[in-house]
Amino acid sequence: MKRSLYLATASAFFCASFAFGAQNSAKSSDSKAGDAAKGKEVFEQCSVCHNADSPDKKIGPSLMGLFKQKKLVNGKPVTESNVRDFINNGGNGMPSYADMLSKEDKDNVIAYLKTL
Ligand code: HEC
Repeated sequence: MKRSLYLATASAFFCASFAFGAQNSAKSSDSKAGDAAKGKEVFEQCSVCHNADSPDKKIGPSLMGLFKQKKLVNGKPVTESNVRDFINNGGNGMPSYADMLSKEDKDNVIAYLKTL
């Protein structure tokens, strides 16, 4: 009796950890969302020209509250894909990051911009 109780407990534990593991791996392969903490590191190269914690303009406009703005400086609505295009294309003093950052870096920096 004691032994079967042990087995039941052990298998319940095994099932629970298996389910947890499966859920975790599904999450990392499905999700395209970037990692804001890593994005903050990427942003160090943007912070030469952009403030993130004050509304003051540097060389470029402050990116504080970017995703709460209605429009980008180019007149397009602030969506993830328009911001990504902006980062890729640059222009008017903003460098083009199409080849300078990996897709993952861009995902991460966009995730960070959303927290501002
Ligand atoms: C050499 C200076 C410089 C650097 C470095 C720079 N930017 Fe910019 N950025 C600008 C300028 C200038 C503008 C305004 C362009 C315009 O008016 O068309 C701008 C505009 C933007 C905008 C649009 C803001 C708005 O309110 O519409 C975004 C988003 C942006 N930059 C993101 C970034 C990111 C992310 C990085 C780093 C990967 C970065 N920038 C690096 C100069 C820079």
